[in-house]
Amino acid sequence: MNTKELEDRYEVPVYPRRDIVLVRGKGARLYDDRGREYIDCASNVGVSNIGHGHEEVAKAIHEQYLTLGNCYSMFYNPVRARLAERLISLCPPRLRRVFFCNSGAEAVEGAIKFTRASTGKGEIIAAMRGFHGKTLGALAATWGEEYQKPFTPMMPGMKHVPYNNFQKLSEAVSEGTAAIILELIQGEGGVRVGDRAYFEQVRQLCDQKGILLILDEVQTGFGRTGTLFACEQFVEPDLLCVAKSIAGGIPMGAVLCSDAVKVPVKSHTSTFGGSPLACAAALASLEIIVRDRLPERARTLGDYFLGELRAIKSEKIREVRGLGLMIGIELKEKVGPSIQALMENGVIALLAGATVIRLLPPLVITREEIDLVLSALKKILA
Ligand SMILES: Cc1ncc(COP(=O)(O)O)c(C=O)c1O
Repeated sequence: MNTKELEDRYEVPVYPRRDIVLVRGKGARLYDDRGREYIDCASNVGVSNIGHGHEEVAKAIHEQYLTLGNCYSMFYNPVRARLAERLISLCPPRLRRVFFCNSGAEAVEGAIKFTRASTGKGEIIAAMRGFHGKTLGALAATWGEEYQKPFTPMMPGMKHVPYNNFQKLSEAVSEGTAAIILELIQGEGGVRVGDRAYFEQVRQLCDQKGILLILDEVQTGFGRTGTLFACEQFVEPDLLCVAKSIAGGIPMGAVLCSDAVKVPVKSHTSTFGGSPLACAAALASLEIIVRDRLPERARTLGDYFLGELRAIKSEKIREVRGLGLMIGIELKEKVGPSIQALMENGVIALLAGATVIRLLPPLVITREEIDLVLSALKKILA
């Protein structure tokens, strides 16, 4: 059996598959088993911000695995200690401690539990069209019947309100509200950028009512939107969830917490959370992001990309939106055929809902590569 047949035969079929077998990646390029080259505008859904196959991360992982790959956090470890210090030094000042885990959903699970433990309250408010992962706690915060319905009953205490609408959000707040969880840019929900004024109002409301603000930057973190964390362009959270590109492609998540977060010892732990292997990869990856000024690069290239996309004259385009290198092209039709046509023209892009093409290229993409993507898009959307 070939690769496709083996995967189709032996794996639980929960992923909508594309009909290619990817075998190799370098920088912003991916290669399939037939040797065809693609420009990556997906970054494994926002994971590969530093590009594929980075030598420095490879070296860090190799050396750390031979030194000490795993070390449960009941023991101290110097690599984890250095990463904790580095992350806290780079994130907004309100955030002073970190909990390490292994994925975005796990970071959201942790954040939900931490806010309940810290406030003694049970209610969380999330946004319609929000996406926070698919484990049971995170799934309760994620919007969408198609995700939730097969797995009911959902965790109680979650309310959803329209995104970017302060009136509706404030009406949903009660004495029992522990936290509000939001994305600054809804990724899966269609690349919808929230208003800064909205987030400022949310921040004020949280301060007045003693509610904790969780910002989910699993997709927007680590330079994607033009700053290391998107919240630098909006407001400071009490808890910041990150994952995806934190460790150069090695699984890792983290919850960065303000002093308001107080959690009993032993109440929340993770075997692999903060493993020296992932921490070494994260330290190397952060070094690259900061040293190579990838956030600035995302801003400059993102402005160029968005400008060129907005200049495309096409009957099919409803709106182009985004921030940095997180870009959505909303069409007046379903995007499936366009995503397929892009792939046939050497570009791997994502969907965000039925009608939005989502582009999340590695931040190391070159302007020439962006021009190739633009040519493919112009051809397809003509
Ligand atoms: C904003 C956001 N939060 C959480 C998640 C879940 O992350 P993971 O798939 O690592 O569990 C995602 C994944 O796409 C995401 O975009």
